[in-house]
Amino acid sequence: MNTKIAKLQGKDIDEEIIEEAGKILKNGGLVVFPTETVYGLGANALDENAVKKIFKAKGRPQDNPLIVHISDIEEIKPLVKEIPDVAKKLMDKFWPGPMTIILPKTDLIPDETSAGLNSVGIRMPSNLIAKKIIAEAKCPIAAPSANLSGKPSPTDMDRCVEDLKGKVNYIIGESQSDVGVESTVIDCTSYPPCILRPGGITLEMLKEVDSKIYIDEAIMKKPSEDFKPKAPGMKYRHYAPKAPLKIISGDLKKTIAKINEMVQNYIDDNKRVGIIATDETLDRYSLGEVISIGSRENTSTIAHNLFEVLREFDDKEVDIILSESFEEKGIGLAIMNRLKKSAGFNIMYID
Ligand code: TXA
Ligand code: MG
Repeated sequence: MNTKIAKLQGKDIDEEIIEEAGKILKNGGLVVFPTETVYGLGANALDENAVKKIFKAKGRPQDNPLIVHISDIEEIKPLVKEIPDVAKKLMDKFWPGPMTIILPKTDLIPDETSAGLNSVGIRMPSNLIAKKIIAEAKCPIAAPSANLSGKPSPTDMDRCVEDLKGKVNYIIGESQSDVGVESTVIDCTSYPPCILRPGGITLEMLKEVDSKIYIDEAIMKKPSEDFKPKAPGMKYRHYAPKAPLKIISGDLKKTIAKINEMVQNYIDDNKRVGIIATDETLDRYSLGEVISIGSRENTSTIAHNLFEVLREFDDKEVDIILSESFEEKGIGLAIMNRLKKSAGFNIMYID
């Protein structure tokens, strides 16, 4: 397939590009577009054949449902059976933005989109290009992250091109995604609502709307028979860089010492080592390929850079990656959730 690629620069949005993207989506094609979380791979959510193309292009497991994106709050009404009060409050407060709400679906949503579940995840993104494309398509847009299944989600257009060129009709880019980790997924099919995936809207922010909102404990643990995450997608190995990733967790000073010791051993074995450091710790490492993931003082920078740092280590072709760890509060919960999954839960606790 011939993939058309366009990059939008600055604040002026080229309406011709939006029109063409809308037309492709309406006609059952695939369009990659930016959102405030990560780039999305979109298709008409109500067209089962279009949705099947998403699964094929990504190599996505069939049992993993897609999030349906809308451009106006009213567009949710025909897609879900009911909107409980708490869901209404959450939508009013956090839409448009990085939050997906799961509700019982109507028959309008095909089984292909919901992977056979009787619920559907709906999100109204805040990114202007995303909103314009969805509005132009005049249909709800199913859009998973625009990466090949298993790889880190793309926060930069070039990564979408790397993964999906030749597999989609159109790739539209702009600057890097703002938030950097995917939306918070919150299940409102029963009360109290349960967070199935931590994201840009934090547990603390959600609790301000309803203090009973809680988190599916299974998502921070290694999936097992006893601990099955409720979101089908959370059980898969995800966000994996090419090299194995190991997280070192504990007191920061001891972590740095441990990482330096491990790096020396790997180098003695002729291995190329990548280190995920922070602005505050960068100069504490003298060996290996060191990249700062952001500032501990401003954790949203860490979320913003996370997936791109993993892909940079792919480019550097290191043999192993060692990472510092972060406190699991605020956006830190989403950061550690993604990092643990990237590492396949390979964590060394020190103290
Ligand atoms: O920020 C985002 O949400 C991005 C951008 C493109 O909007 N999209 C995204 O989609 O992350 P995807 O497909 O990569 O992740 C969707 C997650 C999966 O873990 C999936 O299992 C879960 O949401 N999910 C979707 N529908 C669900 C449902 N009805 N019940 C439970 N989990 C659901
Ligand atoms: Mg994804």
